[in-house]
Amino acid sequence: MQTAPPTNPLQEGLSAQRTPEPCVVVIFGATGDLTHRKLVPALYNLAHEGQLPQSFAIVGFARRPKTHDQFRAELRDAVAHSSRFQPINPAVWESLAQAIFYHQSEFGDAQGYQKLNAFLQKLDAERGTAGHRLFYLATAPTEFIGIIEQLGANGLIHSQHAPTASQRIIVEKPFGHSLSTAEELNQALAGAFDERQIFRIDHYLGKETVQNIAALRFANEIFEPLWNQKYVDHIQITVAESLGVEGRGSYYDGSGALRDMVQNHMMQLLSLVAMEPPTTLDGPAIHDEKVKVLRAIRPMTPEQVQQFTVRGQYARGSMAGQAVPAYREEKNVSPDSRTETFVALKLFIENWRWFGVPFYLRHGKRLPKGVAEIAVQFKAPPAVLFGAESTTPLQPNALVMRIQPDEGIAIRMNAKVPGNALNLQPVKMDFRYGGSFGAHSPEAYERLLHDAIIGDSTLFTRRDEVERSWQIVDAIIEGWNSAPAPFPYESGIWGPPEADKFIERDGREWRRP
Ligand code: BG6
Repeated sequence: MQTAPPTNPLQEGLSAQRTPEPCVVVIFGATGDLTHRKLVPALYNLAHEGQLPQSFAIVGFARRPKTHDQFRAELRDAVAHSSRFQPINPAVWESLAQAIFYHQSEFGDAQGYQKLNAFLQKLDAERGTAGHRLFYLATAPTEFIGIIEQLGANGLIHSQHAPTASQRIIVEKPFGHSLSTAEELNQALAGAFDERQIFRIDHYLGKETVQNIAALRFANEIFEPLWNQKYVDHIQITVAESLGVEGRGSYYDGSGALRDMVQNHMMQLLSLVAMEPPTTLDGPAIHDEKVKVLRAIRPMTPEQVQQFTVRGQYARGSMAGQAVPAYREEKNVSPDSRTETFVALKLFIENWRWFGVPFYLRHGKRLPKGVAEIAVQFKAPPAVLFGAESTTPLQPNALVMRIQPDEGIAIRMNAKVPGNALNLQPVKMDFRYGGSFGAHSPEAYERLLHDAIIGDSTLFTRRDEVERSWQIVDAIIEGWNSAPAPFPYESGIWGPPEADKFIERDGREWRRP
């Protein structure tokens, strides 16, 4: 194992000053869906914003034979379809296209990697990329370890050719299927790269509104004093999707909602909301605080799994007036599948700040709408004054961070209804990103690719975070193994009725975002 080149402190952290150094991005799985829908459109957007390095190239690595020009033509269509800048700017595209290349090889063929190495060195000479590499694993996860080993064995990491250049690797999700498989992948990575060269992607961390959680909490003095068990009754984190599995049945049926969304995205949201203030805004300080939160969540016992979780699976129903099939009728899904497409959880963070405050997490597919939010529900004020007088019961304050769509922050408070009677009514103070900042936020992949190019891993996940959240998730899956199958719920409603009963037993209710 070798050490990564020293990182410029100005180039790390949420407050970074950002100057990209030369780089070749090598995408493994270059003909796949992710490359077309997200990665290359994000690189094009960065080019459009003038945020790519001067000396830059993209090399697609995949199995199918293809010429450079065929590859470029496919990517042009992909960019035209998925870029946030419409229509495509011909000058920007042309300048990016002449930096795009294709390399055909099997993922397990050593010779293919040796040829890649020679090709990259040729590009270094022609384009001034000076040995800097960013490898992107966008293949099926079964290929990850093999590719990492081939990169190491064939001199693509720490090459003699450019000993001081940076070589980094981005690993797409899913990062493992369980704690033990995540550990194996981490082991393989650690055998070839230093932790500072490894970028485990969680695209939720690239969303502007998710980054704003830290700004809301630590750049404002009015919230933080209330952000604890004395004032907060509970926190609800909802990530609802109206889509079904969308042709991804073969992956999803072996995964399920808990692994697909909770282990990564929702655990990251939870740690950002619950963490202590980091000592600085740099990557290691933030990772340290997030992992402390995860360590303070005790993995559930099988009895707690029965009490603190609800699983559901979508049945037939109707979405926007259209009949939709049941999950078990989706392509590549087993007709007697027990895979959950909905999950609700209650977690406790056993530390000084959050002792006794339930964190309710809810995620599902085929729910009435696609929406993601974090709601901090405060305790009710003493009912001695208004509670007794008002004709409507007092609603406690809530602070809602809307992650998508309609990004913003809302505060619910009580106000007096004008008139002679003393009636109170909840009203909403609403901040909308669109209204205040106008411009469209960059796509998550844009920010994340840019950060990986400059070597800033703040918005990526660290080994210990990933492994701890797998420990929490594995304990739940183990409890489910001896439990009844998920409850069916009709497509287009907010999950199985059992999920409502689950929170109502605590005297609370789900928000309807
Ligand atoms: C992915 C999951 O990580 O996130 C998908 O695999 C899910 O199942 C997607 O649909 C949701 O991402 P977003 O950005 O659309 O909320």
